[in-house]
Amino acid sequence: NWKLTNYIEKTVAEIREKVGNDKVILGLSGGVDSSVAAVLIHKAIGDQLQCIFVDTGLLRKDEGKKVMENYGEHFHMNIDMVDASERFLSKLAGVSDPEEKRKIIGREFVAVFDEESHKFEGAKFLAQGTIYPDVIESQSVKGPSAVIKSHHNVGGLPEEMKLQLLEPLRELFKDEVRKVGEELGIPHHLVYRHPFPGPGLGIRVLGEVDAEKVKILQEADDIFIEELYKNDLYEKVSQAFVVLLPVKSVGVMGDERTYEYTAVVRSANTTDFMTATFSHFPWEFLENVSNRIINEVKGINRVAYDISSKPPATIEWE
Ligand code: XMP
Repeated sequence: NWKLTNYIEKTVAEIREKVGNDKVILGLSGGVDSSVAAVLIHKAIGDQLQCIFVDTGLLRKDEGKKVMENYGEHFHMNIDMVDASERFLSKLAGVSDPEEKRKIIGREFVAVFDEESHKFEGAKFLAQGTIYPDVIESQSVKGPSAVIKSHHNVGGLPEEMKLQLLEPLRELFKDEVRKVGEELGIPHHLVYRHPFPGPGLGIRVLGEVDAEKVKILQEADDIFIEELYKNDLYEKVSQAFVVLLPVKSVGVMGDERTYEYTAVVRSANTTDFMTATFSHFPWEFLENVSNRIINEVKGINRVAYDISSKPPATIEWE
């Protein structure tokens, strides 16, 4: 595709021109936008790019490991991986209000990123995967990455670290970002991942969050996503995930009575995320997902499917 190749060549040249011999730091989340931005910038300036990946402990199963494999090993990018899980979990302990949880996670993310970026004092630029819809919507749906931006512009960093923004995807729509990503050699399945909210599993474990519940949810969610891929359904839906309810119910397993949590399988079809319908899956598919979750995930003995549309329900449960 000549248009894309042109775009990439032009942008690579612009990045080199702007950055010169300076260093760039970028918050890599594993999501499509920050990943495409990282690979594009890396193509332009190689090791002058330093990525920071913050593991909040609220990410999908094995996310950190996969990011290191996909981008650290495959693309040879410098990635500083920060395991901040305990820090996030301890700050969230005892908190059940959704907006309060969002605030805590956002604040903590900025604090961790800020501390970590001090390791790279020589950096002159902060790169972000801001895309055109983020630019036009003043109130972006983005979580942490948008928070970093405002924070760094306000100037939480010492004078010598005032960072200039580098946003090479600012003019692109999502579908264009994906095409650029594929043209850069990022595997199709990574470029077509569903969106994932900044607060992550912190708002998908309903109510109080703890390490045990997060682990249970990660396992259940991973099974659902795996089945979607296996049945060629992943790209037919816009966003799919599992929610963990803090509600226990009675079940029976073998000749034992169980008393465990309830998982809700959620999948939405939408073009703009403002309105959405639940995905109309075949019963057999849902039955298999339910059986697998109940049989394979210790801690869940009941699975429900969310058949609410937006509005009046939202896509997320919190
Ligand atoms: P709702 O639940 O409002 O979600 O129908 C619409 C879209 O926004 C995402 N979402 C968030 N993304 N931080 C984010 O980065 C958040 O706090 C947040 N809340 C919702 C949600 O995943 C869906 O794609």
